[in-house]
Amino acid sequence: MVPKIHSLGGYIHECQKGIANPEAFWNQVAESFFWRKRWDKTVEWDFKKPEIKWFINGKLNITENIFEKNLYTHANLPAIIWEPNNPEEANRVLTYKELLAEVNMFANALKRLGVRKGDRVALYMPMVPELAVGMLACARIGAIHSVVFAGFSAQSLADRINDAEATILLTADGGYRGSKITPLKDIADDALMHCPTIKNSVVLKRTGSSINMKEGRDIWWHDAIHGEPAHCEPEEMDSEDELFILYTSGSTGKPKGIVHTTGGYMTYTAYTFKNVFQYNPGDVYFCTADIGWITGHSYIVYGPLLNGAQTLMFEGVPSWPDAGRFWDIVAKYKVNQFYTAPTAIRALLAKGSEFIEGKRLDSLKVLGTVGEPINEEAWHWYHDHIGKNRCPIVDTWWQTETGGIMISPIAGVTPTKPSFATMPLPGVQPVVVDNSGKELVGNSVEGNLCIKYPWPGMLRTIWGDHERMKDTYFSRFENMYFTGDGVKRDEDGYYRILGRVDDVINVSGHRLGTAEIENAINEHPLVNESAVVGYPHAIKGQGIYAFVVCGELSTGGEDGIRNSIMKGVNKIIGPIAKPDIIQLVPSLPKTRSGKIMRRILRKIAEGDASNLGDITTLLDEEVVDQIIDGALVDV
Ligand code: PRX
Repeated sequence: MVPKIHSLGGYIHECQKGIANPEAFWNQVAESFFWRKRWDKTVEWDFKKPEIKWFINGKLNITENIFEKNLYTHANLPAIIWEPNNPEEANRVLTYKELLAEVNMFANALKRLGVRKGDRVALYMPMVPELAVGMLACARIGAIHSVVFAGFSAQSLADRINDAEATILLTADGGYRGSKITPLKDIADDALMHCPTIKNSVVLKRTGSSINMKEGRDIWWHDAIHGEPAHCEPEEMDSEDELFILYTSGSTGKPKGIVHTTGGYMTYTAYTFKNVFQYNPGDVYFCTADIGWITGHSYIVYGPLLNGAQTLMFEGVPSWPDAGRFWDIVAKYKVNQFYTAPTAIRALLAKGSEFIEGKRLDSLKVLGTVGEPINEEAWHWYHDHIGKNRCPIVDTWWQTETGGIMISPIAGVTPTKPSFATMPLPGVQPVVVDNSGKELVGNSVEGNLCIKYPWPGMLRTIWGDHERMKDTYFSRFENMYFTGDGVKRDEDGYYRILGRVDDVINVSGHRLGTAEIENAINEHPLVNESAVVGYPHAIKGQGIYAFVVCGELSTGGEDGIRNSIMKGVNKIIGPIAKPDIIQLVPSLPKTRSGKIMRRILRKIAEGDASNLGDITTLLDEEVVDQIIDGALVDV
């Protein structure tokens, strides 16, 4: 059994162990799993190269640790509880035994399609149990899954498929989201016109929408598994064999394929899930994330299932049929742990308390948040109205790259403080460094958040571009992993995440690169150049503010061009990247060497042009006044 912390004293003791002897600490966690062969050495690392390996030469299969290891106790317990988009539709509950059978049948189907260990399988699916089945089937046979969020456009999907050179795409005829249907197969068809490596696409029937099935390429999911046996021998994997790739945005235009490997990711997600949420056998745990993001990978699928938990998977959106949907689900399934994003909390808060009234929320024991800083108002509303002042809030800080939660309270153990992620988990060694790379020791300090010792769940590389891994995370500061976040450590040693210090923005908990959005805007035929920055947004946390320079205006005038830019971004990246504000400007503020001074644009977008700092390096100071005059926020 994965070790569990029960008290503050226990937490402090584990933290001390994690620092004094990280190898012994992580050995003890890893020993709770089933290894075909035990590892020879716990960790080898060199942040200069960078090279990180955990549980060296250990052999295992992660699905064997979800299923076979626990079947004698868990076979008939619910593994996935699935709540459909439409509350009128029947739900589904898959026990561990049933889930294993589905995983095995699909794993056999993938093998029949020629998928072998190390091959990449892309998934572009709605939030239905088959998405988890597809991922676990890949893990069963050693294929590397690459899930692409189903809100991304055809072009984004194609870019990710091509980067990973995936051979199979798993998708569905469509996906329900509130009152809408996303035509996933049509979008996938557009993408696949540009994906030469894809041999087959397996299509789940979900919405019954009319779609084209391409002869020789497309197969229905139900046909693919027809007649396949419910047994599939798990592939023996090395600890460091890749488990999955998940793309995330960075500060350059091209998304990064973050690579996680088997043994370390398993150990880390299982340990953090059990401890942070204080999961007890029989509890119902509900994470509202989409599996297309890391939160869904680690804390809907792997972390819970490795602990034999009941994980609730919700297909729909928080606002449909009305803004009480989450609370209806909590009441319906007597949810014990509830994990969501601050943006959802703020959106529901704005709708008023009437949607909570009369809903039974007394099953709740733990509330969690993730993805972006939570403001105090939202924290208090969550604590008072949802948790009824009874439930600890775990504000969990982590990233796609970290694989699992890094800084967070342990529910009911760590005293919380609104808007603070509090303290690192045992085995995690954060440091605060100033811009020159000097470690700021002691409390009451503010700077860049880095991690100075490896942890099992950390990324191993960026798919196909190890140099970029080095440049992005290990070059800025010597011998440490740089997170890209700013942080404050207060007088009590508590960590408060201040947000990104690079050109990444966090919109409704979705991570986007400003360069990525600029590239999409610049594709517009009338656009000469653009600069995108984040600005404070009451619901989304950050909104997208685009400063755009056009050569000429089209016949629709300024509004016409704004609309067509929006459409373009929607098509190239997806709706999540559409700017909230587009300001057409005569030119952008640049230094003499031609670099855009984003600092100035950020200030203007924040509505604070009173103190723009040093602008003497600007090529043309007048342009700043012109931009301020035309600003679409109060400056
Ligand atoms: O800026 C931090 C913010 O989200 C970034 C990571 O985004 P992503 O890789 O998409 O993963 C999100 C889900 C783990 C971080 O660099 N972030 C994440 N959690 C928090 C947070 N900011 C403040 N508080 C958090 N709890």
